[in-house]
Amino acid sequence: MLDNDYGTLQNLTVTILIEDYSGYDEGLLAQHGISFLLEAETVKGSKTILFDAGQLAEPILHNMKMLGKDPATIDLVVLSHCHSDHTGGLVGLLEAIGRKRVPVIAHPSICRTNFVLKPAFKSFGMGPASSAALIENAGGEMILVAEPLALAPGIVTTGEITDKIDFEANPTLSMFTLEKGKMVADFMPDDLSLVLVLDEGLVIITGCSHAGVISIIETAVRMTGVERVAAVIGGFHLIDADDARIEATVKKLADYDIGRIYTGHCTGLKAEARLQQVFGKKFKKTHTGITIKF
Ligand SMILES: [Fe+2]
Ligand SMILES: [Fe+2]
Repeated sequence: MLDNDYGTLQNLTVTILIEDYSGYDEGLLAQHGISFLLEAETVKGSKTILFDAGQLAEPILHNMKMLGKDPATIDLVVLSHCHSDHTGGLVGLLEAIGRKRVPVIAHPSICRTNFVLKPAFKSFGMGPASSAALIENAGGEMILVAEPLALAPGIVTTGEITDKIDFEANPTLSMFTLEKGKMVADFMPDDLSLVLVLDEGLVIITGCSHAGVISIIETAVRMTGVERVAAVIGGFHLIDADDARIEATVKKLADYDIGRIYTGHCTGLKAEARLQQVFGKKFKKTHTGITIKF
């Protein structure tokens, strides 16, 4: 077995439990944030993963009920990064899962302070509502790892994205953290994605892609040795990117023979419009309740 042989999944269903858009007249709720449910069939049995936890549990639990998804089936949780629109619902969702020692996989720096100064100071990090103590009290077991972590045959996290393509060296959003009381730029080292290896290619699930969606895809391809990208699903955080960065990103995405792109959340309407123009039917704007099958 090669070091980079992560195995292959039999099949995968991705359900968007919450997103910034609700879709139309379906009775499903929206919130600024992301939470996806991944139901995978592996050679070692089924695996159900909660990827991100939105900012509030209640609307996610409402949507799960309407979508016929039972929180008790969730085997483990993966957090893409510290921002509260991806982590705020975690404690409530762990309570709904209702078990002890539910693995919560994230980067070691996820609990750090993270904030913006423009247009005004705002704390973006996990904060007291998702403290390590509350997570553990609710049944979570924090597994904090910067390296890629294989979760099951065909399922692996990217870990920290250390190799970045030139135009993605800095996050599009200017953020800060604290080191011994001093403010320093926060390059979002905790931004990680999930890679699922299927016969039809890679399915890459991102939170906000603060590490840069192209750098994430290149990392996933390099890690697995699989060049075909079946789909990228998640936020691309181009909402505050300039035109040059949007164009460079769209051009690079077009270089990959990506089967499907599902994005929304922090991608921004401008970048979404360009993706729609370039990818046509391969592009789909995400909203709550979408089910994507592989
Ligand atoms: Fe976000
Ligand atoms: Fe974010």
